[in-house]
Amino acid sequence: MTDIIYVLNGPNLNLLGTREPEIYGSDTLDDIAAMLQDRAVELGLTIEMRQSNHEGHLVDWLHEAQGSDAKAVLLNAAAYTHTSIALLDAIKAITTPVIEVHLSDPETREDFRHHSWVGLGAVQCVKGHGPQSYLIALEAAAKL
Ligand code: DQA
Repeated sequence: MTDIIYVLNGPNLNLLGTREPEIYGSDTLDDIAAMLQDRAVELGLTIEMRQSNHEGHLVDWLHEAQGSDAKAVLLNAAAYTHTSIALLDAIKAITTPVIEVHLSDPETREDFRHHSWVGLGAVQCVKGHGPQSYLIALEAAAKL
């Protein structure tokens, strides 16, 4: 059985491709999923890719990742990164390692993006590399 990596994506990431392309680029979330899928096969991993605009779904899926004995979670919590103590608590409530992912580098953007609640629980953060951030995070997850 291959190791499972959950890739969880938060609000507005369903609009990647058309959403602020000058910040997030022109790849869609499906493009990113396809790229991850190709690399996952090479690494002998299985990807479980999800997106929701609802905070509670992300909390439930973090719990599910633990229940499914996933090897790791890649989490781009999008704006919830900067607001959600519920996500931090969920990350702390599970033993599955969580790697924080961002397309942009929030620390170089508006002040309100500088704080990450997710980062207080994540084992690592990969940011600022566009879609490559997900690939770098997947490589890191494979090595955990
Ligand atoms: C983001 C950065 C967040 O600040 C923002 O709210 C997002 C996307 C990123 O991937 O760069 O929605 O997580």
